Amino acid sequence: MHRLIVANWKMNPDTPSEARALVTATKLVAGNLRHTNVVICPPAVFLALLKPTRKIALGAQDISTELRGAYTGSISAPMMKYSGVTYAIIGHSERRALGETDEIINQKIKIALSQGLRVILCVGERARDEHGHYLKHLREQLEKAVYRLPRPMAKGLIIAYEPIWAIGVDAKQADTPAGFLEQSIFIRKVLSHWCGRTMALELPILYGGSVNPKNAVSFIKEGEANGLLVGHESLRADHWREIIKIVDHA
Ligand code: PGA
Repeated sequence: MHRLIVANWKMNPDTPSEARALVTATKLVAGNLRHTNVVICPPAVFLALLKPTRKIALGAQDISTELRGAYTGSISAPMMKYSGVTYAIIGHSERRALGETDEIINQKIKIALSQGLRVILCVGERARDEHGHYLKHLREQLEKAVYRLPRPMAKGLIIAYEPIWAIGVDAKQADTPAGFLEQSIFIRKVLSHWCGRTMALELPILYGGSVNPKNAVSFIKEGEANGLLVGHESLRADHWREIIKIVDHA
């Protein structure tokens, strides 16, 4: 399985020229990758400027629950597709914090997959307690996300495990590779009830939350992650390029 490395630019950078420069920097390394595919998820307004290449796919940071109509400010999955997008991040914790419910996320996953987009579903707990109560929360997020979705849809699904406490420049630390591995086993177990054991074992699971050039390799090697979801470090061209190279060589 190819590794997947995803840049989530969030609401950055400010200008189109900075966006182009980041993609140009990515192309410098992407051409030589052997085991890794790169996905860049820019703000939607920059999509028209950035062309996908054989090694660099484009992703949406979110999509609408609807296909068209009176939904001011929303962008549909087909519109994203026409803009070159092949992946969609759904259920990012920053969108959940704005009020996105598990039901909305379930609807978005269904729309995205039925439109042929690959879904990067984000899950993760706000805090990790010693007694393992957070696992109940994780289980619920997963079960509700795939609720009543036809089982073959699992083929288009990618999970990003992103503990909220590890996300962002202000986070004290990333998860540990061992911590990630444990959660990814749990995620496969929960999802196997939906899509069956074989498919659950094949689901790509990415780690996200304060990924940087120092910790990237350990999540791939010791954590057995199928890839990484990178936030703020994907905006620093030098670090981003280093992370991509590290992942490809790991
Ligand atoms: P971070 O963000 O790399 O800045 O922690 C990751 C994410 O929110 O996807």
